[in-house]
Amino acid sequence: MCGIVGAVAQRDVAEILVEGLRRLEYRGYDSAGVAIVDTDSSLTRIRRLGKVQELADAVNEAKVVGGTGIAHTRWATHGEPSEINAHPHMSGDITVVHNGIIENHDELRELLKSRGYEFESQTDTEVIAHMVEWELRSASTLVEAVQKTAKQLEGAYGTVVMDRKDPSRIVVARSGSPIVIGFGVGENFLASDQLALLNVTRRFMFLEEGDVAEITRREVSVFDANGESVKREIKETEVSHDAGDKGEYRHYMLKEIHEQPVALQRTLEGRLANGQVVSSAFGDNAHQLLSQVKHVQIIACGTSYHAGLVARYWLEEWAGVSCNVEIASEFRYRKSHVFENSLLVTISQSGETADTLAALRLAKEMGYVASLTICNVPGSSLVRESDMAYMMKAGAEIGVASTKAFTVQLAGLLMLAGAIGHHNGMAVEKEAKLVSALQSLPAKLEQTLAMAESIEALAEDFADKHHSLFLGRGEQSAIAMEGALKLKEISYIHAEAYAAGELKHGPLALIDAEMPVIVVAPNNELLEKLKSNVEEVRARGGLMYVFADDKASFESDETMKVLNVPHCDEFIAPIVYTLPLQLLSYYVALIKGTDVDQPRNLAKSVTVE
Ligand code: AGP
Ligand code: GLU
Repeated sequence: MCGIVGAVAQRDVAEILVEGLRRLEYRGYDSAGVAIVDTDSSLTRIRRLGKVQELADAVNEAKVVGGTGIAHTRWATHGEPSEINAHPHMSGDITVVHNGIIENHDELRELLKSRGYEFESQTDTEVIAHMVEWELRSASTLVEAVQKTAKQLEGAYGTVVMDRKDPSRIVVARSGSPIVIGFGVGENFLASDQLALLNVTRRFMFLEEGDVAEITRREVSVFDANGESVKREIKETEVSHDAGDKGEYRHYMLKEIHEQPVALQRTLEGRLANGQVVSSAFGDNAHQLLSQVKHVQIIACGTSYHAGLVARYWLEEWAGVSCNVEIASEFRYRKSHVFENSLLVTISQSGETADTLAALRLAKEMGYVASLTICNVPGSSLVRESDMAYMMKAGAEIGVASTKAFTVQLAGLLMLAGAIGHHNGMAVEKEAKLVSALQSLPAKLEQTLAMAESIEALAEDFADKHHSLFLGRGEQSAIAMEGALKLKEISYIHAEAYAAGELKHGPLALIDAEMPVIVVAPNNELLEKLKSNVEEVRARGGLMYVFADDKASFESDETMKVLNVPHCDEFIAPIVYTLPLQLLSYYVALIKGTDVDQPRNLAKSVTVE
């Protein structure tokens, strides 16, 4: 989802801005642009439809000079993807880039037209440029003009404003879409994601909701929603440098699939000791808060929601508490009730998903014992606005299709079940068993990745298919859902997932030789039931692909291909069985020739509703 980069420096900043946009490409976009002002107030604006490389070529060719600039990758919400709708947008001497949505843009557009402004684009963003230009006529400073403008805007946005008459400063406003300020030496920067600036600084300040900040080369002044001057903390980032390259892998997604053993190792380090889960992994106050928990309400979107569905089984079985799992965009519009002693858990790789963030803010008014986020991005909105945070330490995830973040989320959720269970009288040996299963994960995942070659060969079968069905039972039904999501979001093949027991209640009508059925069948107590489901499908000429425990007694034949998955403890089976499904979707997408890391229409972090 869209990206912002800005800089105020002595040196020319064109290269810094374009490199920053490159580092944000993974978030998804349709066009890009940059505006740079030199000390003589000469301004160059270049915008291009399509990839950042198109913009980079144009900027290089134009040999743009200037030490103050702003840049943007757009994910269109209002106005088609085009050069004229690409940011930055201008009004007189004012230049603006913006992430998010201005919900009252229609009425502001009419108001501004009545003041004589002419619009060149179809975007909501352009109203910001004209509003600031108007307010600056009476305001004493650009900050004041932006503060007055922000009070008239409705919606979720992060916006950056530049006045070519005064290239010594940039002003930013944050209201619902993240903005981070990067501190250099005699130069300062800003971005929508710290990843954009890792090559120029590792010191960051995260703006809070309603903040307006003025950035010059030597200082940063922040004003809160009431216009009061405030201090925001400057932190050294924990985000790793190396997220920005694929190494020997063809795609970030493949790199991140293969990073999972290490990501799990890093996430578990220091959090399991003496056969117990170290509850401070969930925050300093976790011990006291988790001991009260009798119900868990999980809220998330997409892949993170699937992680929540798996966690429900673990929380019921291991923690001995009830659990409800909701899609954030549904939860926030339901009149839900809060169970007594209920913990609110949000799950989010990015920590900026608009629906999940809105659901958290709503839930915080509803009387939960506490809010916990399972999140991968330090300093993100969900981390800063939750009572407790479990930092996933998966490392930056660049591929739009979530892989390592999902398995790390699952490990964190299994740990949460252990931590709550510990306070709910779980037997010592039971907790020790859970802990040892977790500790066996990195090696088990490494072993499972060895299936890559056999799965790559299998992918050929899907090249000409248009539909597929994923089946699983128990917590594996959520893994079937995750496998279906992976396949559809990167190969564009329609894929549905069902609890295997549901097959005979309708989906069986779909089965024929053109509908591959993928079954997740770990060796567990439900396996026998699953076998009869498999027969139901085969009897109707269905083509089966069964991922089964190498100790189960499934044999391949002309209608069923069995892929043996290394035997593992039942508790970690959902995590282990995810990997072959990730690999399957990757290799099918490779054959289909889609844009694996940036699938069409998708964004890495959906920061708008
Ligand atoms: C998963 O592959 C997708 N990229 C998407 O469903 C994603 O999981 C969802 O948008 C939630 O993102 P989050 O974890 O950053 O909140
Ligand atoms: N709503 C703005 C537009 O459509 C910004 C979209 C984005 O966040 O990239 O241009």
